[in-house]
Parts: sequence; structure tokens; C-alpha cells
Amino acid sequence: MKDWKRYTITAALPYANGPKHIGHLAGAYLPADIYVRYLRLNKREVVFVCGSDEHGTAITFQALQEHTTPRAIIDKYHLLIKNSFEQLGISFDIYHRTSEPLHHETAQEFFLDFYNKGLFKEVTSEQYYDEEKKVFLADRYIQGTCPNCGYEKAYGDQCEKCGKALSPSELINPRSTLSGAKPVMRATKHWYLPLNEYEPWLRKWLLRDHAKDWRSNVYGQCKSWIEGGLQPRAMTRDGEWGIKVPVKDAEGKVLYVWFDAPIGYISATKQWAIENNKRWELYWKDSDTRLIHFVGKDNIVFHCIIFPVMLHMHGDYIVPDNVPANEFLNLEGDKMSTSRKWSVEMHEYLEDFPGKADELRYVLCSIAPETKDSEFTWKDFQTRVNSELVGIFGNLVNRVLILTEKYFDNQVPPSGECSELKTFVESQRNKISEAIEHFHFREALSEMMNVARHGNQLLSEKEPWKTIKTDKEYTATTLYDCLQIIANLGILCEPFLPYTSRKIFAMLNLDPTHFSWSDVGRQDLLKPGHILGKAALLYQKIEDEQVETQISKLKKVAAEHHKADDASAKQPASAQKVEMENPKPEIAYDDFSKLDLRIGTILTAEKVEKADKLLKLSVDVGFETRTIVSGIAEYFKPEELIGLQVSVVVNLAPRKIRGIESKGMILLAENEDGKLHFVNSQQLTKNGSAIR
Ligand code: MF3
Ligand code: ZN
Repeated sequence: MKDWKRYTITAALPYANGPKHIGHLAGAYLPADIYVRYLRLNKREVVFVCGSDEHGTAITFQALQEHTTPRAIIDKYHLLIKNSFEQLGISFDIYHRTSEPLHHETAQEFFLDFYNKGLFKEVTSEQYYDEEKKVFLADRYIQGTCPNCGYEKAYGDQCEKCGKALSPSELINPRSTLSGAKPVMRATKHWYLPLNEYEPWLRKWLLRDHAKDWRSNVYGQCKSWIEGGLQPRAMTRDGEWGIKVPVKDAEGKVLYVWFDAPIGYISATKQWAIENNKRWELYWKDSDTRLIHFVGKDNIVFHCIIFPVMLHMHGDYIVPDNVPANEFLNLEGDKMSTSRKWSVEMHEYLEDFPGKADELRYVLCSIAPETKDSEFTWKDFQTRVNSELVGIFGNLVNRVLILTEKYFDNQVPPSGECSELKTFVESQRNKISEAIEHFHFREALSEMMNVARHGNQLLSEKEPWKTIKTDKEYTATTLYDCLQIIANLGILCEPFLPYTSRKIFAMLNLDPTHFSWSDVGRQDLLKPGHILGKAALLYQKIEDEQVETQISKLKKVAAEHHKADDASAKQPASAQKVEMENPKPEIAYDDFSKLDLRIGTILTAEKVEKADKLLKLSVDVGFETRTIVSGIAEYFKPEELIGLQVSVVVNLAPRKIRGIESKGMILLAENEDGKLHFVNSQQLTKNGSAIR
């Protein structure tokens, strides 16, 4: 393998138009971070760049819909995403922005280079234009009737009803979503990257030279693109939001977002170089630099074909040596999606599980979709944390430190080195290195855990808690060995579990900066007599309730979102409102006091067979448990009701509903949008408490 002098590592610049979820994290950012931390531990020269992708029609469109500006959107999410990454330990050297002037200049320089060399194809075509707003309309801004299913609100790029991909000219009765006006066809000129002319180069560089070392999913996608015939692709767009096309006759035109965004890696490197007194060119123009792009699978063609062609066209740039793209991570049986609200956003995880970045990193790396789509479930998250991190890793560290404190006054006991252990740990280190260098992070992680497993085995075989009574020297050797394993783990786990590593070093009272990857294997990382720090638990168990809360939160948010969507698809917002009921005639206090209203807790909930609207509930009302049939099945899933406190009319005469005797009634309030909510007391109240 080539001996690289330095590394430029990029992770896809996230669109700053919304929060990012754990699927993004598992897809690109976590593997990139593991790789970079590994390189740094090996004392390699590396720059790790990322930042916000802030242009593109999607952001403009969103701003229009939300009655705000692209600026307001990107400023908000840039910070949110940047902070989330930081807290998750993603150790970028710089998190830049494509709205920075330095980036605009860099992207324009690229454009001008191609322009001046005459490499672009200029093509004039007819596109829809809004005469009222005086703008060309991106496909998304045009609505009309779908030629396929007749849906009247199909977009110029796709009908969201039947899913058919469309081009704007296919729409019947097209109209501009900006003004409602009927758009007209108008000629517009754009600059095209003649990808087809670079096919021979791509065949050689990619299909021939990377047939062996690139992941087969990545290679396969590229191959089918190239063999499907490459077409010239427009690198400019009509619009205001973006980087101005830096030539005459280009008013109202900006660079295509996929032209400028990857150049963002270069601008970020430039900014980092300025701040750190480095030469950015070395990281982009020296053939001894290894350029690696970490991306998700939807970004493959941009990083394997279009951007490399751009770098190649420019001339003095290096091209990526690998693009280890991951597949998708699904969530609880469904595709992850922020817009459908079926996702776990990074910042939400951090709010709900503060201080548990490593737990998420561990689980996401264990299930990383490296070769095929994989699945995150909360139950599996709990199992992996509890049985592996708590049960194996945390347990080892804790037991060994406590025993050392107890038997040896918190000092590393004296002992000879164990050569067998050295061989084992070294061979594990080599396996892990090999796996990381080939981007097999799952495998690397599991070999790291095998070192912890080995420590536990040693402990249970040698039983220092028994031998201490008879043989102090033997016990010393056992604990000495175990402590060295832990110190080695402190280095080995750092790429995957950086917070854990820091904690281990603190507990061992060692300075992590004194050690590197090549120290792994040493059995004298801790010297006899060295005083250890204070033992603390590395991890805590994830409780069942935490898992249940996450699952019901997910289902609830997604269900509400669906309902809101269905409702708005059916009728205009004003018609959805529930009519306010007329006030009822006055009653006497006596009439009111006849009602026996109590607080109760729903214990079980299940669907009533062949009745779409009914749920059968058992409710603890304090003095007994009641069966109540309630017509709320359209609004709540049975599992999300368990444990909820509700208000119950307990002295209502029983009624038979679908053969089930229902005793009592649960109080509900209806929102103006038709959603039901339970009437309950703000604080948890004892079941059976009377409501007065
Ligand atoms: N913003 C894109 C996405 O989220 C990724 C851009 S990667 C870059 O899919 F190379 F263009 F920066
Ligand atoms: Zn349709």
C-alpha cells in the first residue's frame, strides 16, 4: 500500500435547512470521525473538513413556504447542526459555511478556470418564466395537473400523489407557485459540464484503477452511471440565492448547488490553513496526499463522478482515493425521514440522553450500514448498551479499579510483564488497524470489544477476590495485567468512544497525550507503584421506560404529522376547524355533584376486533380496575396510552359495546383541528382522587 504523507478527509456538507438525524451520523460523520481519530493517534498529518451546505433551490423554496428568508433558516440550522456534531464528539478541524465570502471566491475561481479554458458547453433552452415575479421557475416552483393521475397539485419535478417523476412541460395547466400566474416559456442560457467528454478518463481512473479497493456498492453505482451514458450537466441555475455566476450576461444566474458545495471542502481547508498557519495546497494538490470523501449513498455520483471530473478538469488537483459511502440506516422498520417525522434527530438524542454520546456512537458503529441497509431500533440500542457497554466494557474497568483500590491501596501492583498478553493485544491492534484502514469499522469495533472481553475472562478465571486471601503476589499479577488491558483499551477505544477514552485516562491518572497507537500492546503503560485516579462508572443502563418513551414519542409525532398531512390534503385549513358547540342550559349544583369524577391510570389498551374506532381499556380508578370501551382508536395507538393518567366518570351506568361491558367514561377535549386530548391533572395524582 502507498505510504501517504498526509490526509484530507471530508464528510458531506449537510444542507443547513433542517436538523440532521442519526442516519446521517451513521452514514458519513461517525465513520469519518473514527478514521480521522485513528489517523491522529497514528501521528498522521490530517485535516478533517466539513461545514454547512447553504445554497440550493430547496432552501429558497422552504423559505418561501415558511415566510422567512434563506438566511434565517441557514443561520439557525448551521448552529444547531454544528453543536450537535461537537457534542457527539465529531472532531472536525473546521466546520465552515458555503455562505462565506472565501467560499464564494473559491467556487467562482473554479468556474472561471473552466470558462476561460473554454471547457463549458453553453446551451440555451426554453424554461418556464414567471412574468409577474420576473424569475425563471425551478421545477419545484411550478404546479399543475398530473398527466398521470389528474392530481391538481403536482410539482414540476414530481407528482406527490402518484409518485411519477415529471418535467415541468408535462404538467397540464401549469402555474407558478410564487404568483399563481401561468408561466411562459422563455429562452435561458446555461453552462454545462461536458461529463461525456471525460468518460475515457473515468473509465481508466475509476472503473479500472479502483475496481478492487472501492466498496462494491459504490463501484457498482458508478459503473452503471458511466455505462448508462454520461450527459452534459448544467452547472448554473436561474435564481437569486447562491453564488453569482462570475461572467457577463449572467445576471440572475447562480452556480448549481452541486457545483459549489463540494468546492466547499477546499474553501474550508483554506480557512483552516489560514487559522493554523498551514499551506492548503499541500492538502489538495500534492499527490502524496490521500483524499477520502465520507458520504451517504445518495451522494455517490457527485463525489465519484462529477466532483472528480471537476478536479481533473482544473488540472492541478488530486482526486479522491476512496469514497467509502454507506447505505441507509432505517428506523424501527421504516425509512428514516425528517420530513415525515420518522427519525431521531441528533439534537433530540442529545437532549434525551445527555452525556451519552459514546453510547450512540457505539451502537451506530456496531450496526453501521456498510454493505447494506441496516436498522436502528430502541430495543436493540438498549440491549447493546446494557449487555455490551455496561456488561462487558464498563464492568471490566469498574471491577479492576475497585479491586485495586481495595487490595493495593489504589496503586498499580508490582509484577513482571506478561508476554502472552502483549502478543494478544498487539495482534488485536493489528486487526483493528487493518479493519479501519479498509473502512470496516464494524469489524474494528468488535475486535476492540474482544480485548475487553479478554480482560473479563482473565478476571473470572483468576478470581483475584478469592486469591487475595491466600496469594497476594498472584493477585497482584492478575490485577497488573488487567490494568494494562484497561490502559490499552483507553487508546484502542479512542477512535470509537472518545469520551470513554478520556474517562479511562482520568481514572488511571494518565495523560492521554503521552500515548499513541503504536504504544498499544505495551504491558508497562502503567508503572508499578503508580497511583490511580478515582474509579467511576463508565456507563449506566438504559431503562425500559427510556426505551418506551422514545418509541411512543416517535409513533406519536409521526401519527400527528400524518394526520395533519392527510387533513390538509383533503380540505382547506379553514374547513378543518371544529364548530364550537353551543352552551348548554344551566344546571343546579346538585346536578353536578351527582357526577363521580376520578383520576385513573390506563393499564392496558387494545383494539376492539372489527371496530376501527374503538379501544378496550383497563383503567385503575383507585378503588378498582375498570374496563372501559372508548371511541378513540383513530387518534391514539394502544401502546401510547399505557400509563397515562386520565379523568373518568366512574358512576355512569354500564353499557354493552360490541359485547364488552364498558363501565365508565373517559373525558376528552377536542382541539380546533379535530385532535383529541385527554383531560388530566397537571401533576401526577393518586388514582381514585376525586375531581371537584
Ligand atoms: N448537502 C448535500 C446533502 O446533504 C451534501 C453535499 S456534499 C458536498 O446531500 F460535497 F457537496 F459538499
Ligand atoms: Zn400523479
